[in-house]
Amino acid sequence: MRKLFFYTKQQFFNFKAMQTAAGFKLLSMSQLLSSQKVGELNKNQKYYVDLSSVMGYTKTNDSQQMLFEQLFDSFGENIDFICDKMYEEDIKYIFRYIFDDFSDVDAASEEIIAEKETIIETPSRKRRIVDLNDKELDDFFKVFDASLYGHERFKEEFKKLVTAYRVFNKIGEHKILSLFLMGDSGVGKTEVARAIHKALGSRTKLAKVNFGNYSSHDALNSLIGSPLGYIGSDGGELLKRIQESDVGLILIDEFEKADSAVFNYFLDVLENGKVVNSQADEYDVNGYIIVFTSNITKENFRSKVSPELRSRFDYKGMFNLLTDTDKKKYVHFRVNQIISKYKEFVSEDIPDGLHDRVVCEVDVSKYKNMRDLNKKIKDTFVKLIGA
Ligand SMILES: Nc1ncnc2c1ncn2[C@@H]1O[C@H](COP(=O)(O)OP(=O)(O)OP(=O)(O)O)[C@@H](O)[C@H]1O
Ligand SMILES: [Mg+2]
Repeated sequence: MRKLFFYTKQQFFNFKAMQTAAGFKLLSMSQLLSSQKVGELNKNQKYYVDLSSVMGYTKTNDSQQMLFEQLFDSFGENIDFICDKMYEEDIKYIFRYIFDDFSDVDAASEEIIAEKETIIETPSRKRRIVDLNDKELDDFFKVFDASLYGHERFKEEFKKLVTAYRVFNKIGEHKILSLFLMGDSGVGKTEVARAIHKALGSRTKLAKVNFGNYSSHDALNSLIGSPLGYIGSDGGELLKRIQESDVGLILIDEFEKADSAVFNYFLDVLENGKVVNSQADEYDVNGYIIVFTSNITKENFRSKVSPELRSRFDYKGMFNLLTDTDKKKYVHFRVNQIISKYKEFVSEDIPDGLHDRVVCEVDVSKYKNMRDLNKKIKDTFVKLIGA
């Protein structure tokens, strides 16, 4: 559908300023034709082409009208048209086979405002760690501690950090609690965020961005969106994920795969407590916890992440392998969980002593990665239930 918008002299400059700010380009038809740029226009850029200058010309010259009709076919979807309102009557008639939608330029500006409003619509209040009362905080730690096995030192440290954070956040001196977790695969780094998410009582998806999914050169665009005026421009994944979640928590997984532009971006977020996207929408993340996870080694952490950013993390720590005692606790918990699910969804009828037999068969010392351990638990369960 070809759109044509009319403007008056009073409207023009305001319209131009607003559209330019939103990333559109304005061109007059004669500018376009004199440099023969139709084929060279950037397909990813949105344009307004002003037809006013051709009106006087076409009105008196029918053969020109035919040429223009053909020319319009070569314009892509990324181009809309504008014209001085004084030609309204003539143009509607002369180009009657070309345009099927006429409106005032204010309608085009309203579209931009509406587009912005859908992004910055006020989300319902998020449940943040800084808002919990003492009883709720107690419950928070109970759930958190029970969800994460082992890592006792981290848990103690985390409690102290949260206590201090709640005080300093209230007096405006600590905007975001940031944790940078490094270490082996499958030992519970991502699980920390899942446990916080659960302990905050979330009913929505965890707000998670995984840099493993991005190729590094477009990471920042994927994260915060490309500028308005570009086809497919949006507010970026980060803001979307934050808005979809009902708690004040963000997980940034595989952070080492990001590039320096992204590192700098997060430097700002941690400093200002605000997430800003490429369209200049701001989202207040004051009072949030941000968990960064990474498989980076301690040495690479120093060379890859700048000192400015490093010093902004409230906690930086290596997650060590779980002890056999912790792994055994995990096995007990998982076997109970699987058995109760099995009873609920499949059958009440299970062999005697199943729990103990699974636990007995799984030699925890053979497993470092809890994913592998989990797989072994499942395999053993399936084997024994069939027996
Ligand atoms: N300490 C732990 N407490 C409870 N569950 C754990 C723990 N460690 C691992 N798990 C379980 O093992 C699985 C893998 O753990 P997780 O996703 O946290 O690994 P990770 O440390 O983030 O590893 P990667 O670096 O490969 O992403 C999780 O689904 C979780 O259920
Ligand atoms: Mg992980």
